[in-house]
Amino acid sequence: MEKAKIHTQGPTFSRIVAGAWRWHTVSAETVERLALAALEEGITSFDHADIYGDHGNEEIFGRVLDRNPGLRNKIELITKCDIKFPSAKRPDTRVHHYDTSKEHIIWSVENSLKKFRTNHINLLLIHRPDPLMDPQKVSEAFVQLNKEGKVLHFGVSNFTPSQFRMLQKHMPFPLVTNQIEISLSRIDPLFNGDLDLMLEFGVSPMAWSPLGGGTLPVNERTMFSMAGKYNASYTQMAIAWLLRHPAKIFPVIGTTQPERIKEAAKSIDIQLDRQDWFEMLKWVMGKELP
Ligand SMILES: NC(=O)c1ccc[n+]([C@@H]2O[C@H](COP(=O)([O-])OP(=O)(O)OC[C@H]3O[C@@H](n4cnc5c(N)ncnc54)[C@H](OP(=O)(O)O)[C@@H]3O)[C@@H](O)[C@H]2O)c1
Repeated sequence: MEKAKIHTQGPTFSRIVAGAWRWHTVSAETVERLALAALEEGITSFDHADIYGDHGNEEIFGRVLDRNPGLRNKIELITKCDIKFPSAKRPDTRVHHYDTSKEHIIWSVENSLKKFRTNHINLLLIHRPDPLMDPQKVSEAFVQLNKEGKVLHFGVSNFTPSQFRMLQKHMPFPLVTNQIEISLSRIDPLFNGDLDLMLEFGVSPMAWSPLGGGTLPVNERTMFSMAGKYNASYTQMAIAWLLRHPAKIFPVIGTTQPERIKEAAKSIDIQLDRQDWFEMLKWVMGKELP
């Protein structure tokens, strides 16, 4: 699988990204097999967050990196910060909330670096828009982390177009992505301006839960006729449907099964015809287009 620029000015990530949200539900050995299976398919970008697995998944991955010398240089690490929730591991947090203060962003990255056992993160995302966000402070944190070589690139997640535009105004460098929920189960971004903004800024979105978290709506007839035509599985068709969009969406797949990661990687080879793309859209809309 080729790597692709996520922003017109770079950097590059694998067009399909492996997401670590569910990785605490399987053994450490399976996580290692997943990572190596992904790499074999050219999936080199791994999406984490400080909070995944109750603040534990970055550490699990850090042990994989430790056991596989050389692996760190072959991959891109993505992680996130700003969500805080009550946990035995965070005794000071009373209330589920967001924290984009300069101090927290820097502390969170330094903590992630320790857990990953690495000296840099390729891409840091603000996980959720924080109503108390001071964009100048976020910018200061990003600039400091970048100067120190701790984070190479920055982006956001779940931001509305106006939130993205506003934060970008305060940044000395481009925000390279907005990671949002897009799939055949959630088609709003096609129509609500999310993808328009990405095209306007030359930024590619990442799609979280690209298979609707495993609960895609199934229309047996459309699914089987499409899958048969393309000699592909339903999963591959759902990912190919995202890849076909001109905003150059980077799907973040969340499977915990190495063979499914390999299956998903093959979607990159499917060239979905325009009319078939619309037929799949019609099937999830449940009606004809106007
Ligand atoms: N930025 C955010 O706010 C945000 C929010 C949520 C997620 N994310 C990111 O997005 C990633 C993906 O989210 P997700 O896990 O909900 O994505 P997903 O790929 O839509 O769903 C994965 C789930 O679907 C199941 N599944 C069922 N059939 C499958 C098949 N044939 N192939 C693959 N999976 C199948 C998987 O089970 P098995 O494991 O048994 O295969 C797994 O439970 C996360 O890991 C995380 O990195 C970001």
